[in-house]
Amino acid sequence: MIFGAVLAGGVGSRMHIADMPKQFLPLGDKPIILHTLEKFLLCARLDAVYVGVHPNWLLHMRDLVEKHLPDRKQDIRIVAGGGDRNETIFHIVDQIETDFGQSDDHIIVTHDSVRPFVTLRIIEENIDAALRSGACDTVVGATDTIVVSGDGRLISEIPERSRMYQGQTPQSFRISLLKGLYDSLSAEEKAALTDACKICVVRNTPVELVQGEVSNLKITTVSDYKIAQAMVGGIELD
Ligand code: CTP
Repeated sequence: MIFGAVLAGGVGSRMHIADMPKQFLPLGDKPIILHTLEKFLLCARLDAVYVGVHPNWLLHMRDLVEKHLPDRKQDIRIVAGGGDRNETIFHIVDQIETDFGQSDDHIIVTHDSVRPFVTLRIIEENIDAALRSGACDTVVGATDTIVVSGDGRLISEIPERSRMYQGQTPQSFRISLLKGLYDSLSAEEKAALTDACKICVVRNTPVELVQGEVSNLKITTVSDYKIAQAMVGGIELD
């Protein structure tokens, strides 16, 4: 079976603008997370779409589904998020296994709730790549030159740009593979992970690349939020 996992367990501390996590802020006619969820609900290959929400916002999320997606309630399952992004993923995995049992065939398509412009094409290609390779990451080729600095003061390396990519989401996995690798990590290794694909990379497990879109931006800061609003026609960029 194939499951969507929309990650909304964060509080959006880098936005500094509202006492509400950024995924619930309005974008055009509805909250950001509704745009994201609707993209997942377009994909007929998904058996269910899970949403991992910060524990303080579970009721709010339920109300949003009730208000905006009453006809799709049966396809959306809301679970409490964890202390970091990967923990939120594994809370969702636990709930999938409670609801549908364990299977080597289960695939999970994990996605940031704050990337509302993901496309059906990207979701479909994630499913194909995860079925084929066990793990995949959505990326775009780097347009800026990437500069590496070990100490934040001096350049230590400038890698060849044609080999550099920027990671987006979705990131999709065979659940049994991801769980096995995560369980093999020490607490220190887990704490050092910035991203779910790194669970595979630190254990030398191949991760296929899926072509993303520059428009699949992540809303992290107020400027990203303004760009997203301009993209849905809400305001003019100044
Ligand atoms: N996320 C999650 N569970 C967490 C932390 C983050 O599901 N414990 C989700 C966020 O809700 C977001 C995505 O992971 O959709 C990407 O994370 P990021 O942009 O860093 O979101 P926040 O953690 O909310 O933001 P910040 O780091 O500014 O606090």
